[in-house]
Parts: sequence; C-alpha cells; structure tokens
Amino acid sequence: MAITTSLRSVTATRYVTPLREGGSLPGLVEADDDGLYVTKFRGAGQGLRALVAEVIVGELARHLGLLVPELVTVEIDPALGAAEPDPEIQELITASRGPNLGVDFLPAALPYTPAGAWAPDSALAADIVWLDALTTNVDRTPRNPNLLLWHRRLWLIDHGAALYLQHGGLVPSEHAERPFPLIAEHVLLPRAGSILEANERLGPRVDRALLRTVAALVPKDWFAGDDAETYVEYLARRSSAETFAEEAERARLDA
Ligand SMILES: Nc1ncnc2c1ncn2[C@@H]1O[C@H](COP(=O)(O)OP(=O)(O)OP(=O)(O)O)[C@@H](O)[C@H]1O
Ligand SMILES: [Mg+2]
Repeated sequence: MAITTSLRSVTATRYVTPLREGGSLPGLVEADDDGLYVTKFRGAGQGLRALVAEVIVGELARHLGLLVPELVTVEIDPALGAAEPDPEIQELITASRGPNLGVDFLPAALPYTPAGAWAPDSALAADIVWLDALTTNVDRTPRNPNLLLWHRRLWLIDHGAALYLQHGGLVPSEHAERPFPLIAEHVLLPRAGSILEANERLGPRVDRALLRTVAALVPKDWFAGDDAETYVEYLARRSSAETFAEEAERARLDA
C-alpha cells in the first residue's frame, strides 16, 4: 500500500443534504473534485476528538487490510451556509471553517444487518471484533452496526466514538489495559471465529511505526492540545498487552 503522509484535501462546493440518521448531523457534501463526501463537521457537538478517532481508527483499519471508504479533509468556507434554509445546519457550517472530515460516499450501499442474507466469514468478523476491542469502539452494536454492504463487501464506517477514554484525558500507562465489557455487544461477535487467532494475524502488525503513520494523518489542529504520541503510546501498549483480545475472546465464548 502506498504510504501517504496527509489525507487528500478537497474543498466543499455544495451542501447537498443532511444525513438525518447520524447523531452528529453529518451532511452529504459535493467537493471541487466532483466527489460526494459524507462530511463530519468540526463544529458539531461531538467535537474535534471524534474526528481524531475517525482518522486514527479508520486508517489503522485500512492499513490492516479492512475496507474503509477513503477519508479526506473537506475545507469549508462558511459562506457555503448562506444558502441553507435550516438554521441548525447553517450554524453548523458557519462554525466549521477549515478542515472537516470527509468520508467517500458509497452510493447505494446497504446497512449491514445481522438478520440479512449476507454474512461475513468468521475470520473477517473476528478481525473486525479484534479491531474494535483494541480501539474501544462502542459503536458496532446490532442497533447501530456502522457497517455497510457495498459491491458485496463489508465496509467499516463511523469510528468517532472509538478511543472513548480520550474524552477524560488519555493516560497510556493507566488506560491501556482497561477492560472494555461493551465488546460483548458487538454485532459480529456471534459470527466471529477466534479472536486470539485474529490477534495472531493482526497484533504483530500494530507497532509504533504503523501507529505513528496513522496518527500523522490527523490534521494537526484537530488535536487541540492533545499529543498525537499519546494515542500512539496508548494503542501500542494496549496492543502488546493483549488483554483486550483475551477479553473479547471470553465474550465470544460466552455469547
Ligand atoms: N461513506 C458512506 N457511504 C454511504 N453512506 C454512508 C457513509 N457514511 C455514512 N453513511 C450513512 O450515513 C449514516 C450516518 O453516518 P455515521 O454513522 O458515520 O454518522 P454518525 O453521526 O456518527 O452516526 P450515529 O451517531 O448515528 O452512528 C450511516 O448510518 C450511513 O447510513
Ligand atoms: Mg453511525
């Protein structure tokens, strides 16, 4: 895979429509490359840390071979909001000058549902559970799987709620081995093969070099005082301790 040192940057040309189902009021935005992007606004209530988690976890997943739509930065000129009749959206656009997160829009993608006819194989399901256990992603539940089926493959979206301990200030030495019991709610747990085998496949690849590569993709001003290296240290320690994988495996066997 080609190593890039920053996300591709595009400039918003049109606010197309809000995606009402999204909690953070993401919008579909057209950009100057004629692409459509699901845009997560920096001015949204979730704050910049949600965007940091989107990039670190999304790009980590991509480097591990999972499918994630391209992530870009979407530059927004507040003037774009002027034509927007909904005051809530107008306010959001006006508060979002600068780089926002864009997620390549997958047209006609279907939400993954556990009851659907299509199911991932057990190794893929285990790899995704493993990733979400490592990154404490609370948003992959049956109610809200944040998995899309597109061209008969499973795509991962919405990592803004991962790394949730960052909101109280991440302390790697203290937090790396924190239990994550919510992994028991993971939508793919009933489909997953051994999480310990997933850990053998993927764990050795999550070293500090890879973590620095993905953390470096986060636009600098999104860290707002936090240090990219803290995220690197947290994930490196969590990965090498392996307790998260053992916890996820116990949850799988209990399910
Ligand atoms: N790249 C994409 N291609 C197609 N549809 C998408 C894409 N990203 C998001 N969507 C759609 O938009 C919805 C909201 O996106 P997302 O889950 O990323 O936002 P959110 O505000 O974090 O949502 P929530 O808090 O409800 O989980 C998704 O459930 C999905 O239906
Ligand atoms: Mg979502």
